[in-house]
Amino acid sequence: MKKVLILNGSPRKKGNTAVLVEKLSKILEESNNDVEIFKLNDLNIKPCQGCFWCYKDFPLKCVQDDVMNTLYPTILETDIFVFASPVYWYNYSGQLKLFIDRLVALHVKGGHALDGKKFASMFVYGNSSVEGSGVQNAINSIKYLIHYFKGENLGIVHGTAENIGDAAKNVQLLADVRELAEKIKT
Ligand SMILES: Cc1cc2nc3c(=O)[nH]c(=O)nc-3n(C[C@H](O)[C@H](O)[C@H](O)COP(=O)(O)O)c2cc1C
Repeated sequence: MKKVLILNGSPRKKGNTAVLVEKLSKILEESNNDVEIFKLNDLNIKPCQGCFWCYKDFPLKCVQDDVMNTLYPTILETDIFVFASPVYWYNYSGQLKLFIDRLVALHVKGGHALDGKKFASMFVYGNSSVEGSGVQNAINSIKYLIHYFKGENLGIVHGTAENIGDAAKNVQLLADVRELAEKIKT
């Protein structure tokens, strides 16, 4: 059984990202994966302070004793990470960025605890074109991250969905999420 952690970076509880997250998690749970979802907007994740306290003896926690210190054990147990976010100003949301920045605390001597893990991503945006949306910046950023972790990219799906309810009507996007689920399952 694989442990899948989905990071939802949208503040809209019934928004388009949530639709994709629910669809993906349902398929994965039906095939007996252990799925956990972090609704990042509900968590009071403080910004990384860049102090590198976490580099001294690599305690796998942060000097800021906030919610992240309670999340690190789950993160460390995860096999596959799924980044899910709306595009905000031509990149993924600030909620997701805060979380990713705090992964700095999981460095170990000579590497990072997430080295070699698997990753997937799902992005939605309001613009009707890929070029206009700026999603490519989010994609590039995640690809750099996966490369840093010497990880495996299982796939990045994205599509247009502006208003609440739009993702549920985007047939291609939903099909892409189903296809991504197949890659995560196997
Ligand atoms: C602050 C903000 C910035 C946005 N920036 C972009 C953008 O750069 N490109 C784009 O195509 N859509 C942009 N959008 C539209 C959202 O990506 C779109 O509404 C999406 O469906 C929101 O996803 P959600 O329902 O999961 O929250 C922006 C929306 C907000 C609120």
